Amino acid sequence: MKKVLFICLGNICRSPAAEGIMKSIIHKRHLTDKFHVDSAGMINYHTGESADPRMLKHALERGYKLTHKARQFNPKKDFKEFDYLVTMDDQIYMDVNKLDKDNEYSSKIHKMAKYCSHYNIKEVVDPYDGGPEAFESVLDILEDACGYFLDKIKDES
Ligand code: 4NP
Repeated sequence: MKKVLFICLGNICRSPAAEGIMKSIIHKRHLTDKFHVDSAGMINYHTGESADPRMLKHALERGYKLTHKARQFNPKKDFKEFDYLVTMDDQIYMDVNKLDKDNEYSSKIHKMAKYCSHYNIKEVVDPYDGGPEAFESVLDILEDACGYFLDKIKDES
């Protein structure tokens, strides 16, 4: 069982969407017994909340029912427990690396953007202050990245 944790800032827009999309692709490919997928945020401001209503709506329009409740990244547990810590932007990538004080887990920490095959981007930008097109764009990017990410990791030992 491989364990994947998607990490963004609030855990109400990007990472719960990534979690929902990844679970859906895993389900479609009949790999549910091989993966555990979760998401977390760097801040605890939204802890316990469902995803942002705008993200819930845009995701549902594509068939993804997001059920995750926001939680904060827990360095004490999550570094050990998860095999892949996938960060949504450069700031999150740096912050997660900083929390890994002895660089014990560096090889587990990744940037979501590097898994894109159609989009040439460096980061998955936070849609929080954007309009509907920002949420659509995040979903386009995450669908692209999750598909390729799963292809890459499904045969890794
Ligand atoms: P997310 O978006 O990191 O993709 O969940 C955000 C959600 C909330 C906030 C920032 C980003 N916020 O500042 O509350």
